[in-house]
Amino acid sequence: MEQSAGEVRNPLRDGILTRSVPEACTVVIFGATGDLTHRKLIPALYNLAADGELPPELAVIGIARRPKTDDEFRNELQEAVQKFSRQTVRDELWNSFAKAISYQKSEFHDADGYQRLGERLQQIEEERETGGNRLFYLAVAPDQFPPILQHLAAANLNKPREGAWARVIVEKPFGTDLASARELNRIVSEAFPEESTYRIDHFLGKETAQNILVLRFANAIFEPLWNTRYIDHVQITAAETLGLEGRAGYYEGAGALRDMVQNHLLQLLCLVSMEPPTDLRADSIRDEKVKIVRSLRRLTAEAVATDVVRAQYSDGAIAGKPVVAYRAEENVKRDSKTETFVALRLQIDDWRWADVPIYMRVGKRLPKSGTEISVHFQKAPSVLFNKESDALDQNVLVIRIQPDEGISLRMQAKVPGTSFRIESVKMDFHYGTSFGKASPEAYERLLLDAMSGDATLFARRDEVEQAWDFIDRIESAWREPEAPQLYEYPAGTWGPEAADELLARDGRAWRRL
Ligand code: BG6
Repeated sequence: MEQSAGEVRNPLRDGILTRSVPEACTVVIFGATGDLTHRKLIPALYNLAADGELPPELAVIGIARRPKTDDEFRNELQEAVQKFSRQTVRDELWNSFAKAISYQKSEFHDADGYQRLGERLQQIEEERETGGNRLFYLAVAPDQFPPILQHLAAANLNKPREGAWARVIVEKPFGTDLASARELNRIVSEAFPEESTYRIDHFLGKETAQNILVLRFANAIFEPLWNTRYIDHVQITAAETLGLEGRAGYYEGAGALRDMVQNHLLQLLCLVSMEPPTDLRADSIRDEKVKIVRSLRRLTAEAVATDVVRAQYSDGAIAGKPVVAYRAEENVKRDSKTETFVALRLQIDDWRWADVPIYMRVGKRLPKSGTEISVHFQKAPSVLFNKESDALDQNVLVIRIQPDEGISLRMQAKVPGTSFRIESVKMDFHYGTSFGKASPEAYERLLLDAMSGDATLFARRDEVEQAWDFIDRIESAWREPEAPQLYEYPAGTWGPEAADELLARDGRAWRRL
């Protein structure tokens, strides 16, 4: 419709930013008996169904190696949903949802299995009238990604029929270094074009992570200050009280840098530091994000020694309960050198961020769980109230990603009374109280986006490769004979002293969570 002169289109009013139910499709989950399927994927699909966000024709096929009937599979999933779903399970809804689920036993290397999957898909597509759209979800160990992708292509399951689509969601870890990520990208691209490839980073699905762009670009007051002239430094913390949770097989070869920094923390950094995109299309946003990763100053071996601190937890206690050292965890080598904590000082070499240090830290078995970004503004000029001792605190804008999602701004206020005493106070916005409803789980949003063909909250090929390029230099400095030491920190503490010194050196300190 032509817009008349003077008429302003309002994207919210005109429904551009509201969502419609995606087209019908079949979701094929490889790794259907695994933890991710039970804890996240099926509960997410159930919650979406309960909220009326899914097409009624949707079908789910679970594939795994263990033999089981459709009914056994459905019963297991019902228990999982009861345990992990954010909404209580209603029998009536579960029964109609469960009818859409079926199970196929298959080895991922077995070509026959893909033949059978093809037949099954066709049958389901006719019965449920899904239109032939297919979403393949690789919820398996990374060594299974290549064979599954290659078999899907060999069996032509990656080729949608006329007018339909076929997409693939690849779970993390996406490679273990730049070379393996490139190789995996090559293998994926032989089966699916980039626009049909959805690389999961579940942090991008978190409500508050998405809100970063809204905070920055839907408000006029922050952006003029969002640069080196007004910002002193930025901190990003992802702290967990959890330890290994039985994942030694994966974590021993990964460590905190690969497990959390390469993906989740760099993604948060991109959102908080990128330039405004020209529009809200997936590639416009991702174009800006990748510029940040590209501008991240690559660390030399010397810089790794001074600007990166790695550590591993030893025996300690969390909330009064004793916890064992990392090396005493099941299936961890007694002399393991895997880091469970890392703190870094980064620099983005662009005009906006020149000379603004970015400090990141992530760790397991810390005293508290919480993920947040804090933007520390420069102090008020040393005149008037700040004249005598430069004692006023900085303004700090805190974006709490989890838990208690929200945003707070610390500022100075006069303490009531006859003197001019000044103290820091906090303006606080809590999602829970302001909107009064629980945020959807990250996987709900991401599954729905993938079904709708929206890749905004998924990592693009170049982003992933650039992130590995940055990480690889740290990993390789750590492999050198004169590598910087691996510190220890007692479980239940905020990491080694060296992590505090990293900031103290610059006259700064970590924000207390
Ligand atoms: C995963 C990491 O990607 O993210 C885990 O592999 C980590 O080690 C988890 O515990 C944290 O995610 P969340 O959503 O629980 O903060």
